[in-house]
Amino acid sequence: MSTSPAIARIDLVKRPSRPPAALTARQAAELREEREPKPFLKWVGGKGRLLSQLTPLLPPGVARMRHVEPFVGGGAFFFARSPARALLSDVNPDLIGTYQAIRDDVEGVILNLEILAQGHSKEAYYGVRSDYNASLGDTSTERAAQFIYLNKTCFNGLHRVNKRGEFNVPVGTYVKPRILDEGALHAAHRALAGVEIRCAGFEALVQDARPGDFVYFDPPYEPVSETARFTAYAQGGFDQDAQRKLRDVYRELDRRGARLMLSNSDVPFIRELYSDFQIDTVAAPRAINCDGRGRGKVAEVVVRNY
Ligand SMILES: C[S@@+](CC[C@H](N)C(=O)[O-])C[C@H]1O[C@@H](n2cnc3c(N)ncnc32)[C@H](O)[C@@H]1O
Repeated sequence: MSTSPAIARIDLVKRPSRPPAALTARQAAELREEREPKPFLKWVGGKGRLLSQLTPLLPPGVARMRHVEPFVGGGAFFFARSPARALLSDVNPDLIGTYQAIRDDVEGVILNLEILAQGHSKEAYYGVRSDYNASLGDTSTERAAQFIYLNKTCFNGLHRVNKRGEFNVPVGTYVKPRILDEGALHAAHRALAGVEIRCAGFEALVQDARPGDFVYFDPPYEPVSETARFTAYAQGGFDQDAQRKLRDVYRELDRRGARLMLSNSDVPFIRELYSDFQIDTVAAPRAINCDGRGRGKVAEVVVRNY
């Protein structure tokens, strides 16, 4: 017989109604330091470990182009580049609401995350998860803090929702998870200033992209085995029809004169879809991934139209 986990509640605040608690020496030092922006979430498929291989493949003159990223996820490439102009989008509304909150009200996110970090326990995790699921569709700063808290404390940093859109990952096993990293959130806030952030499927880009854009596509990868395909699609994955639609969008943006770069797994289906374009191979060391493959080094393709 399964029993529901015990839960405890943590009350959040609408607006900063009290000054933040006194900073520890380490937090104060972190705030003074101008940190390099980097992802503020653990995100499956994050490109952090591939940056040194992707950067040399950027197009000439990229510094003057608008950076467009329609599958932004944890945003590793965006943060590493910190471009002056950018459009970020993803189909996940909770992820996008969190990016918007960090851009528009980072202090509110930090204040609430501090409250959540202080109250963290296994029981509190299930209380936060239940409050978070009761406010689906809400884009408040409090919900963004709950999103980050759940991401840092859940099992393996996974993001999985049920058919109703409710987050259903169990609590992780971390002894002392780093829930609040103010320096990282401030750095992300600076990188996101003036950036356009939208919740949309990748198809929406067709209306919008133009010459002078650099578009980086990092879709859910085509699985490399039948078992991986079964697991990925059972979790609402991106099927071969979606990969074909994405290739059609890629072709259309190519026709319009945007510079395009796309990552995917190195499998015949993907090589065939993009056979009109330049295909390079990179080797990706991966811990967890969004394509259901195992751990270890795997080959990926980078498809470019320049
Ligand atoms: C491989 S992950 C991106 C990883 C990211 N580049 C990073 O560094 O963390 C794929 C992302 O695509 C998003 N996604 C899935 N289907 C989508 C769709 N149809 N349109 C736009 N985004 C989608 C998922 O929400 C997920 O964030």
